[in-house]
Amino acid sequence: MELIVVPGYAEVGSVGSDVVVSEIATNRDLHLGVATGSSPLSLYAAMAERRGALWDFSGLTVSCLDEYLGLPEVSEQTYRNTVIRTVLQPLGIPIERLTSPDAWSPSPEGAADDFDAFLRAHPVDVQIAGIGANGHVAFNEPHSGLLSRTRVASLTQATREANARFFPSLDDVPRRCITQGLGTILESKMLVMLVSGEAKAEALDRAVNGPITAACPASILQLHPNAVVIADEAAASRTVRVLTH
Ligand code: GLP
Repeated sequence: MELIVVPGYAEVGSVGSDVVVSEIATNRDLHLGVATGSSPLSLYAAMAERRGALWDFSGLTVSCLDEYLGLPEVSEQTYRNTVIRTVLQPLGIPIERLTSPDAWSPSPEGAADDFDAFLRAHPVDVQIAGIGANGHVAFNEPHSGLLSRTRVASLTQATREANARFFPSLDDVPRRCITQGLGTILESKMLVMLVSGEAKAEALDRAVNGPITAACPASILQLHPNAVVIADEAAASRTVRVLTH
């Protein structure tokens, strides 16, 4: 694992964009796995700034990490619509190049299996991820199996409260989801985790320095052969102290 510490949120995005774009330089059609949440937004914005004559991102294949169950398909808060708005449109990637779990299928379990099969057939080259304050990755909450596959899962109350800022009220935050499993995410060829802010410091410390444990799903980072963590100083405050003393 490589840990890159930068001053703040904007630099997490610009350095993250450098890492992703240098991979695209060697493979213009790579499969980019994207995350939702606030953490990767500065990376997508930095990539969008580069779009132009030199950088054409329209050949990328894009997939989502997870999707809420129970939202109307047209809701702005679905992860599919969020990715269309924050990634595909700014980067000029056609919607047909996006694959996400079909949360509107009559069988969400079947849709999860189908999405997992898609990912096995089309491995992710670069997976962007954030981390929850409780150590979750995608919607793999604490105690998810380290080798779990894409499946229907429940959100913890802590995660629902953290995500309530995107909804009119806490009651509107879905309770269930389809999420890539930790084992699925481990199959991405490269994992780029973005972490910002003091609220993530403990989770990042546990992920990087703690035991590999289902109690901290992000600790799968330690099992990934090609993981890069880009953290700002606030998020890395505990992690770096442990590494340097
Ligand atoms: C959500 C998403 C995760 C994301 C996490 C952190 O629960 N399912 O993929 O990493 O929130 O979000 P944020 O970056 O907004 O803190």
